[in-house]
Amino acid sequence: MSQVSEVPESGRSGSTPVPPTLTVPIQLRVNGQIHTIQVEPRTTLVDALRTHLGMTGTKLVCGQGACGACTVLLDGERVTACIILAIMCDGREVKTIEGLALPDGTPHPLQAAFVRHDALQCGFCTPGQIMSAVAFLRDHPEPTIDEIRAGMAGNLCRCAAYIGIREAVADAAKQMRASTATSGAATLAQDAGEMS
Ligand code: FES
Ligand code: FES
Repeated sequence: MSQVSEVPESGRSGSTPVPPTLTVPIQLRVNGQIHTIQVEPRTTLVDALRTHLGMTGTKLVCGQGACGACTVLLDGERVTACIILAIMCDGREVKTIEGLALPDGTPHPLQAAFVRHDALQCGFCTPGQIMSAVAFLRDHPEPTIDEIRAGMAGNLCRCAAYIGIREAVADAAKQMRASTATSGAATLAQDAGEMS
């Protein structure tokens, strides 16, 4: 999107003029819903989500791409939203923790497994851990604990809840495989019924 706006700065020090702030319109598709917002070119994706859209599920911790707390999916791939500019996400699909549960509120298997395994203390890293695990399990549906350790290495937990996190990811993988098998069997039964 190309139209650029100038927003006057509210504060002025003495007689020194403060240059206006440039903003640009962008469209973010977040959890399937399109949002058009006006951002400064320096606005990060995490700030666009939290400040412009009020979606505070994504956490900002290090702000340097080092801890993984701000992990979201951008076009299906894990990114740390604190080091991606919002303007780089114009027209792209963003998935956040707010979009994981079913519309009726049923938690995603990973969310349920984190609760079952008490895989958090302060919870600040948790949305990032879960979003990271969503992408990890998509690519590794039957992971070993060592694979989980390596695949989730970019997500730090200052409370050191790592054992619970790994158990939760392994458990969710099992649940998701079971539900895929069930729905696959149901589809096969349905197909067989339609053919008979
Ligand atoms: S807050 Fe983004 S990686 Fe730490
Ligand atoms: S639960 Fe506190 S940082 Fe992970």
